[in-house]
Amino acid sequence: MKNKITSYPSRSRRDFMQRASTAGVGLLLMPSGSLFGAGVASNRLNIALIGASGRARAHFGTLKDENVVAVCEVNQLNLPTAMEQFPKAAVYEDWRKCLDHPGLDAVLCCTPDHHHAFIANWALNRDLHVFMEKPLAITVHEARTVHETYLKKKHKLATQVGMQRHANPNFNRLRESIQDGAIGNLKEVYVWGNRQLPRPGYLPGGTRVPSSLNWDLWLGPSPEHPFNPEYVSRNNGSNCLNWNMYWDFGIGQMGDMGSHTMDLAWNVIDADRPSSVKSSSPESFNPEVTPVNLTTSFMLPGNNWRDEIRCTWFQGGAMPKSPSGWIDLNRIGHGAMFKGDKGFIISDFKNRLIIPNGRSGDMSYFDPRSEEELLPDLGNFQKQWTAACKNGNPADTACNFEYSANMIENMCLGLVAFRAGSELKYDGVAGVVTNNAAANEFLTKPYRKGWTLNG
Ligand SMILES: NC(=O)c1ccc[n+]([C@@H]2O[C@H](COP(=O)([O-])OP(=O)(O)OC[C@H]3O[C@@H](n4cnc5c(N)ncnc54)[C@H](O)[C@@H]3O)[C@@H](O)[C@H]2O)c1
Repeated sequence: MKNKITSYPSRSRRDFMQRASTAGVGLLLMPSGSLFGAGVASNRLNIALIGASGRARAHFGTLKDENVVAVCEVNQLNLPTAMEQFPKAAVYEDWRKCLDHPGLDAVLCCTPDHHHAFIANWALNRDLHVFMEKPLAITVHEARTVHETYLKKKHKLATQVGMQRHANPNFNRLRESIQDGAIGNLKEVYVWGNRQLPRPGYLPGGTRVPSSLNWDLWLGPSPEHPFNPEYVSRNNGSNCLNWNMYWDFGIGQMGDMGSHTMDLAWNVIDADRPSSVKSSSPESFNPEVTPVNLTTSFMLPGNNWRDEIRCTWFQGGAMPKSPSGWIDLNRIGHGAMFKGDKGFIISDFKNRLIIPNGRSGDMSYFDPRSEEELLPDLGNFQKQWTAACKNGNPADTACNFEYSANMIENMCLGLVAFRAGSELKYDGVAGVVTNNAAANEFLTKPYRKGWTLNG
């Protein structure tokens, strides 16, 4: 059987890293007179928090163990909660200025998605460690640019994308089960999410921008759009659902729940860029709003343990076919299914179900690893990043910018294929669509004058 990897834990760099970090390999005592800034010298990072409310609140606990020396926020109404937590922090409105705050070691960014790749590049270019909320990027070009910038710095800068569900032990159990042969040779992968946020188009203008909000900086690199209060009406971590379906601010469910749910599969399949991508939808392309119902198939080249596979993403009502009449996949809102030549595994974020083919129930082909060989738990997801900023193993995070940029590049390509309306052949090394010259235009998007992606 091609994909039975008996020596798998020592072969995979990804698994090795997880083991090494848990075992304490590479732990570093903090230098005094640090190369990395004063915060690291005192074993606390000097961090800038960009985007102070909403999702940021989920990071306050981790940030309290570091020095938050700067907070950047465009909406003054969203500042007080963060300032209660970090009263000594300097306050900025423009993240470009905030990133030059003296003595910074790291940045944690919770802004809307259209700033993410910009802030990631700018921060890496200033030698800052970065925790970026998901999605890492909203175009293929952005994903590839961050990826390239990161590769130049990965020996010294720790990165993590906010795909914190990855810390559920089920992610490792899935990887082990499939690579140890629970379903034989992996043949196909299906991933889905059922969130639906239909909108007709950008919100209408006509409302005065409140004096507490800098709308120009909220828009940032995006083309001009009139202000509407709904874009900023909540601050509890769900406000992203008010803007992430509009092309200039996000990529809909591809980047939203897609970042989490595709991660379930991505962690298993050791994939790189696809050789081809095909999308279909009952909706036609709307230049203002991303599609709700979408099916996208990626052909992912084979690697050292599996053949070429098709991985299909279903969203907004599109669903894969269940392998059995008594399993209703619709009961799993966000899940993944792996098909092998000996059975299926169906999984949500926390649990999985193995279904062997045939009626005999024979699974003697499956030789699961021993308890001692199980991949170690990742622990606290945010802390994995702060530890990697300090311990001399900066690449030792589960969702670093290499892993996450590849994954989101695939997802963005799915939207390019949707927009192009045809199957696209992709040269992942060059980052070029080879069979449809016009589709290459959709790999990137226009930005407002004065904003530089890789500044
Ligand atoms: N990992 C997760 O599970 C998870 C959950 C929710 C949200 N998120 C992500 O977190 C991010 C923020 O989502 P949200 O719902 O908190 O959005 P939000 O609209 O509430 O924005 C968060 C904060 O950023 C501020 N902000 C907006 N533009 C800014 C700018 N240019 N500079 C500085 N601050 C700015 C807002 O005023 C707000 O306080 C999104 O990228 C979203 O995808 C992740």
